[in-house]
Amino acid sequence: MNIDIIVKGGTLPDGRVADIAIADGRIAAVDDAITAEAGEVIDASGKLVAQPFVDAHFHMDATLSYGRPRVNASGTLLEGIALWGELKAIQSREDIVERALAYCRQAVAKGVLAIRSHVDVTDPSFATVEALLEVREAVKDTLDLQLVAFPQDGWFRAEGGGANVVRALDAGVDVVGGIPHFERTMADGFAAVRAACELAAERGLRVDLHCDESDDPMSRHIETLAAETIRCGLQGRVAGSHLTSMHSMDNYYVAKLIPLIAEAEVAAIPNPLINITLQGRMDTYPKRRGLTRVPELAASGVTVAFGQDCVMDPWYPLGSGDMLDVAHMGLHVALMTSPDAMRRAFAMVTDTPAAILGLDFGLTTGDRGSLVVLDAADPIEALRLRPARLAVISNGRVVSRTAPAVSTVTASF
Ligand code: FE2
Repeated sequence: MNIDIIVKGGTLPDGRVADIAIADGRIAAVDDAITAEAGEVIDASGKLVAQPFVDAHFHMDATLSYGRPRVNASGTLLEGIALWGELKAIQSREDIVERALAYCRQAVAKGVLAIRSHVDVTDPSFATVEALLEVREAVKDTLDLQLVAFPQDGWFRAEGGGANVVRALDAGVDVVGGIPHFERTMADGFAAVRAACELAAERGLRVDLHCDESDDPMSRHIETLAAETIRCGLQGRVAGSHLTSMHSMDNYYVAKLIPLIAEAEVAAIPNPLINITLQGRMDTYPKRRGLTRVPELAASGVTVAFGQDCVMDPWYPLGSGDMLDVAHMGLHVALMTSPDAMRRAFAMVTDTPAAILGLDFGLTTGDRGSLVVLDAADPIEALRLRPARLAVISNGRVVSRTAPAVSTVTASF
């Protein structure tokens, strides 16, 4: 067998030190010492070698548009949705493609090799869908882009919202989306959840809904999503994104809800950078944290992944595509500061989102030949320093290299 790359002596996230051989786009061996010839040997001694970062929740049609046509003055979700409506009316398909490709390049350099992006199907021109289908094709050898048919203005509230979800799926979009808390009434929200699950069951697809992204303790579409998942036989194929209302719910009710989510095998995708800034805007003090109950969900066996959600768009003025920033914020807001909890936070931007997207990423023989070498000793140091991604390997090719940060002037004490 011709070995293309050997990554030598790296420390894996579980602490093992190993060589990894990659051939024909897949991991050919993981062993103490691999002595075979290889096209390239990367010395990773003392460095963390991790499976790729995966972003389970993003909006690529809106990214890198900050300031167009204006900024979000209130900082709220609802003004963001209104502002996105203004941008939709003036942007072209070419604009979207250009911004999305620029973002993909940034994300890959940070070791992100798979992204699930929601794409707004309520844009009457359908430019968003056409643009992201084009981008998915352009990046496919390096970056797995999974698209969600997302009716931003509502399944029922937007004219033709549900029909446009079907149209997007027919055009090749992968996953059924929704936004039940944005429908006109709770009853419409429940009906939207039901319609999304039935459509996914009919077509054998996955579901990922923006669900209960509010501070309203009575916003309870996640309960319907779990029940509909079971009724439609979709266990293991459904995710609830955001779930911020769970932060504000009554504890007694949550004690029933979390086991129901676990029973339905519905995954949770909180987005800590965005929701710590979007939520709590109508509170005085104390201000609630805009994050769902991450440690409690994980402890009950729910698959939890942190998503990036936004980078420089109508909802969020910052962001860099670095999933270590996302996990860093997530572990702070969720109070996950024990060594075990910090390692779980690292897994929430690598292993668990890969499982939610159904990807064959991993660090064992036969897995995809995709990994990241970081300038850190272990996952906790990676979270603390968010260091250079020294090498990013995708499907057996080195697709990005970054030099370690070096200070050119050192203070003397
Ligand atoms: Fe989102």
